[in-house]
Amino acid sequence: MPAPLKLGVLVSGRGSNLQAIIDAIEAKRLNAEIRVVISDVADAYALERARNHAIPTATINSKDYPSREAFDRAMVQCLRDHQVELVCLAGFMRILSPYFIQEYKNGIINIHPALLPAFPGLHVQRKTLQYGVKFSGCTVHFVDEGMDTGPIIVQAVVPVLDGDDEDALAARILRFEHQIYPRAIQLIAEGRLQIEGRRVLCKGFEEKARERANWGYINP
Ligand code: GRF
Repeated sequence: MPAPLKLGVLVSGRGSNLQAIIDAIEAKRLNAEIRVVISDVADAYALERARNHAIPTATINSKDYPSREAFDRAMVQCLRDHQVELVCLAGFMRILSPYFIQEYKNGIINIHPALLPAFPGLHVQRKTLQYGVKFSGCTVHFVDEGMDTGPIIVQAVVPVLDGDDEDALAARILRFEHQIYPRAIQLIAEGRLQIEGRRVLCKGFEEKARERANWGYINP
C-alpha cells in the first residue's frame, strides 16, 4: 500500500465533514493521514473533534495579519511545516488568495452543498428552495481562483421535497457530503484522477460508471 496521503484540513465551524474524513481514515476506507487541522475561528467545534483524535491543530486568525495574503502566507507556512500534500476545505469560510492557490496548485479541494455550477457561494439552501429545482446535492471540486468554480471531482444527487425547509434540505444533503468527501480524497490518494481542462477523469472506474449509465431519477 502506498504511503498515506498527507492532508491539511481547513475549518471554521462544526466540522462534521472533518469528522467524516477522520472516521473514514480510522475505518481504513481512506488511505490518508491528517497532519494538521487549521481554523480561523478559535472556538470552532471542529478543533475539538481534531483534539479528540490527537490530531495537531492550529488557529490562525485573519485579524492578526495586515492583509489577506499575509494571512494566507501564514496558513501555507503551517501546511508546509506539517508536510501537507492535499488541502481539504471543510466549512472554511474564507476565500483563498491567488497566492495560496498557486502554492498548492491542483492540491486544494472543497465540498459544496449544491450541484455546482448551480448555487455557488453562501445561503445555498435558501437559493435552492427559492429557485424551485427538484434535485440538489453536493459537489467535491478542485479549488481555483473563482468562487466554487474549479473542476468537479464527485457529485451526489438528492431530491428536493415539497415540505423541505432550509434545515431539512441541508441535512439530507449533508449525509451525502460525508460519503463523497472521503471518497474523493481516496480517489486522489489512489492517483486515479486526471484533470483535462474542466473535466476530471477517473481511471479504473469506467466499467462501474458504464453499468450505472442508465440510472436516472424522476421527481415527483
Ligand atoms: C458543509 O455544508 C459544506 O458543504 C460547506 O460548509 C458546511 C460545513 O459543514 N462548505 P461542517 O463544518 O463540515 O459540518
